[in-house]
Amino acid sequence: MTDLYHQAQAAAEYIRSRTTLQPRLGLILGSGLGDFAQQVENDVAIPYSEIPHFPQSTVEGHPGRLVLGTIAGVPIAVMQGRVHAYEGYSMAQVTFPVRVLGLLGVERLIVTNAAGGINTRYRQGAIVAISDHINLTGANAAAGPNEPRFGLLPGSGQRFFDMSAAYSPRLRKLAREEASKQGWTLDEGVYVAVLGPSYETPAEIRSFRTLGADLVGMSTVHEVIIARHMGIEVLGLSVVTNMAAGVTRSAEETEAQPIDHQEVMQTGQRIAQQFTSLLTALIPQLVG
Ligand code: HPA
Repeated sequence: MTDLYHQAQAAAEYIRSRTTLQPRLGLILGSGLGDFAQQVENDVAIPYSEIPHFPQSTVEGHPGRLVLGTIAGVPIAVMQGRVHAYEGYSMAQVTFPVRVLGLLGVERLIVTNAAGGINTRYRQGAIVAISDHINLTGANAAAGPNEPRFGLLPGSGQRFFDMSAAYSPRLRKLAREEASKQGWTLDEGVYVAVLGPSYETPAEIRSFRTLGADLVGMSTVHEVIIARHMGIEVLGLSVVTNMAAGVTRSAEETEAQPIDHQEVMQTGQRIAQQFTSLLTALIPQLVG
């Protein structure tokens, strides 16, 4: 068995054998947001199953392809779908694609996800910039032997590394400015990650609110930790696909409304146009 670094190198080499494109930006598309990959021009789409050591998603709504091409002239690598720890994947597997993107030379990463809204200011379908996260999954993807060879950018690859500005204030500001140019307000919020796959109980959501969380989901934080280990700058965007458990009550104010995956997928598709307009305008600014 080769080590993780060599596995990531083998994956990156395979991808380089399929395209000469050198991505400057990475984009991970969350549940219901995969259609954005259609915006990529001159694209090469590689199913995850063809890339050595790449994990494969088992969840509906996560097609599992790496799409390389350009958006507004910017060379980009788009992950159409991701794998999650709740599928039984290890932290190394969940974050493997981010390591490969780093080896391909990506210096910035946009992570997107479907999230439950904890903050009652949010509405279903809102796009929110992640300002910070709380990792309640009980695991950290950087645990285990440190691999300094993943530290390709200045100051990265350290055993202990800073997370105080994990979600780049600079990239967030660009995103907020672009949203207001497009006539709407991009709110910000703290994302709390849980393992899943069960949705949360209303008591959990109340406790997360007390902790300072605005959004809840089952992804993203591990990818961001590994991106920061590699020195990659991160922009995180959540789509509030549903209000979190117990936040919205039925008309009679008695029972909480149940959450289901179909609702999550449909909301993602409903806001696809707004999401697409924001990202396509933003992408050239992020690498500028
Ligand atoms: N909880 C956790 N993850 C989610 C949710 C939620 O309510 N909605 C979409 N992903």
